[in-house]
Amino acid sequence: MTIDLAALPHDFLWGTATSAYQIEGAVAEDGRSPSIWDTFSHTPGKIDNDDHGDVACDHYHRWREDIALMRRLGTNAYRLSVAWPRVLPGGDGPVNAKGLAFYDELIDALLAAGITPSVTLYHWDLPQTLQDRGGWPERATAEHFAHYASVVAERLGDRVTQWTTLNEPLCSAWIGHLEGKMAPGLTDLTAAVRASYHLLLGHGLAASAIRAASPGAQVGIVNNLSTVHPASDRPEDLAAARRVDGHTNRWWLDPLHGRGFPEDMRKLYGVELPERAGDAETIAAPLDWLGLNYYFPATVADDPAGPAPHAREVRRPGVPRTGMDWEVDASGIETLLLRLTDEYGARRLYVTENGSAYPDVVRPDGTVDDPERRAYLESHLAACASAARKGAPLAGYFAWSLLDNFEWAYGYDKRFGLYHVDYETQVRTVKGSGRHYADIIRSHRE
Ligand code: FCB
Repeated sequence: MTIDLAALPHDFLWGTATSAYQIEGAVAEDGRSPSIWDTFSHTPGKIDNDDHGDVACDHYHRWREDIALMRRLGTNAYRLSVAWPRVLPGGDGPVNAKGLAFYDELIDALLAAGITPSVTLYHWDLPQTLQDRGGWPERATAEHFAHYASVVAERLGDRVTQWTTLNEPLCSAWIGHLEGKMAPGLTDLTAAVRASYHLLLGHGLAASAIRAASPGAQVGIVNNLSTVHPASDRPEDLAAARRVDGHTNRWWLDPLHGRGFPEDMRKLYGVELPERAGDAETIAAPLDWLGLNYYFPATVADDPAGPAPHAREVRRPGVPRTGMDWEVDASGIETLLLRLTDEYGARRLYVTENGSAYPDVVRPDGTVDDPERRAYLESHLAACASAARKGAPLAGYFAWSLLDNFEWAYGYDKRFGLYHVDYETQVRTVKGSGRHYADIIRSHRE
């Protein structure tokens, strides 16, 4: 397959993405305090194989080597996250100079390598000390987040222009507080709804804190959205699909775009939002861009007895699946990019994550052949280019992930990297898909 990438602009950002807790390791070094993911991953039974991020990819010590890996791919952008507990080990309170210095040096080295850093402030690693004070269900956490954002932006904002407040607030709120499968591991609808509210409030407060600290900042937020298909044309399943769309997509996008929280979902949750005058405007602070993380679509059926939003996932027969058991359906990424353009008037879009896990092995000759990941990458890039042809203002694509890493509750068995990581030796090996990505990038530049 040759992909027609002509619709993508010349200054397109070709990137890879990672996040702090998934790659850094060094969890007790240079003054970092524990995050909710340290606590969660050290709680027996929460993570496959009882894996944790104590060492991960040891990126905290190997980041120079990892920048060299990016250069080998020919990428011109890199999406990373800053660990809040490294910068402000107390959550609020004094700044840890060594924590900030790590990112300072990393940013300089990226720029020297011709790689534009795109910095995410919150990729799920809330300082545990703030969780102990109530975490995201409490308004104070949103305020602490804005303070932390201003500390980081003041230090890095002379060189970093691409800022993301939150990565996938859906996962923090719904998976972390309702489904209990991610930190902090709660199953409490009221806590989850309050967390969702304060996450979005924190986003808005942080957006203005970043802009105050760094006037040229380009601020966005990253959502993981899904296309939602009803399992049948029964009215009950159509209604379930509408609810899942509300839960997954509209609950986040509507308030961010000044439309308020969707009424149907407010009723469904039945939880009073901790609203105060002015919050709606704060949450709807104008965005310079929107980030889309896309992995798979959802097919859902009515499930009245299940938890909110009372729907269950249904398997579509014959649709290929990745090692995560996630459906492969590239049309979803195009549909969502066009929806953000047409329905929400997005002026600039990035695919901030997209990728696939497969059980890769390094062969005796030192190569990693991963044809399925190569095909996934191609089909999704082709769908991105198609969206761009139809008018989506797509300005960049960040492959998830640069490296195999700590895949949250799935631990290290799920490998998403363009580079394979041997966790015993920390040796990185480029996969076939990594080479292929480099070829695609080169072909777009020619
Ligand atoms: C997303 C996360 C990212 C990674 C991928 C596979 O939900 O943002 O950290 O784990 O899934």
